[in-house]
Amino acid sequence: MDEAGLVPGITGLGIHVPERVLTNYDLERMVDTSDAWIMERTGIRERRLAAPDECTSDLAVKAARKALDAAGLPAAAVELIIVATATPDMLFPATACLVQDRLGARQAAAFDLEAGCSGFIYGLAVGAQFIRAGAYKNVLVIGADTLSKVTNWKDRTTCVLFGDGAGAAVLQPVEPPRGMLSVYLRADGSGADLLKLPAGGSRLPASAETVRGDLHYLAMNGREIFKFAVRAMGEAAVEALRRAGIRQEEVDCFIPHQANIRIIDALAKRLSLPPDKVVVNVDRYGNTSAASIPLALYEAVSAGKVKPGESLVLAVAFGAGLTWGALVLRY
Ligand code: UT7
Repeated sequence: MDEAGLVPGITGLGIHVPERVLTNYDLERMVDTSDAWIMERTGIRERRLAAPDECTSDLAVKAARKALDAAGLPAAAVELIIVATATPDMLFPATACLVQDRLGARQAAAFDLEAGCSGFIYGLAVGAQFIRAGAYKNVLVIGADTLSKVTNWKDRTTCVLFGDGAGAAVLQPVEPPRGMLSVYLRADGSGADLLKLPAGGSRLPASAETVRGDLHYLAMNGREIFKFAVRAMGEAAVEALRRAGIRQEEVDCFIPHQANIRIIDALAKRLSLPPDKVVVNVDRYGNTSAASIPLALYEAVSAGKVKPGESLVLAVAFGAGLTWGALVLRY
């Protein structure tokens, strides 16, 4: 295959969110908060919650089937499945293996990738390498999380922020000028304590004590994460653009991680990107972690904001780890 045939691009997208909607007014009845506070401080109006018997792989499989349909790719032809998630069905086996089985992707390798809310960008970056190397032609990257399952519904500082969802992308070799133009990934584990799920791993195995201490819930230092987010995503966006040889004003559509409208606004301002180029759906889904970028990208494509073969897309995310990253692609 010649050089041009090895450019990875997205050829199909699919999303799935659970049916149940939890509004700010519902939260007012659960913790000491208000619709006004949540709207002003986060921009979130409502979020979707998985049913008690619905888990990350359930959402992932539904999103993946839609992405495969959109790409016109049979599951049996998928060669690699990457599931980016911080809320796997179980610690092991990998959720990607459960998805592989349910899709009937009999030829596929499968593994999970844990990079918090940056997981989908990390996943696209990893999947793209297999295509560039000529190893695979059909890669499925899924970002799926059910943070509601590890949310402390008595903690108003976190429970208003998150929602559940999944988004999937089929990566295949595409013809230039389409395809991924650059990727930039970073991590800084010195900030690991700022956003974590303390117990249930090998550090603090599950015990009556860890349950009593609420250590199986997500814990976060919101203020520090906020500062990190604006700084890190700004840096990642600039570096990904530089590597792609694209000027800021050439970006047609900006897809930031959907965590907080104030973070998105600050970042767009820093990058001098006008509001009509910035995709926002945090109001309807909250922070869906690894599903955030594909949900927003899917909606931008569906709304005609991203035009196949034409639009230059800049996607940027940050998350637990700490991790952050950005990529530029011509959709
Ligand atoms: O993917 C990564 C995930 N994490 C994030 O994206 C988090 C980034 N951080 C943030 O989005 C913001 O820091 C928050 C939305 C979490 C908090 O907003 P803030 O403007 O940084 O508020 P704060 O933490 O400085 O708290 C201000 C006040 C506090 O009261 P006092 O101490 O001033 O009396 C909080 O107790 O707001 C209070 N507060 C609330 N009040 C009503 C915190 N949460 C709530 C709430 N409702 N839900």
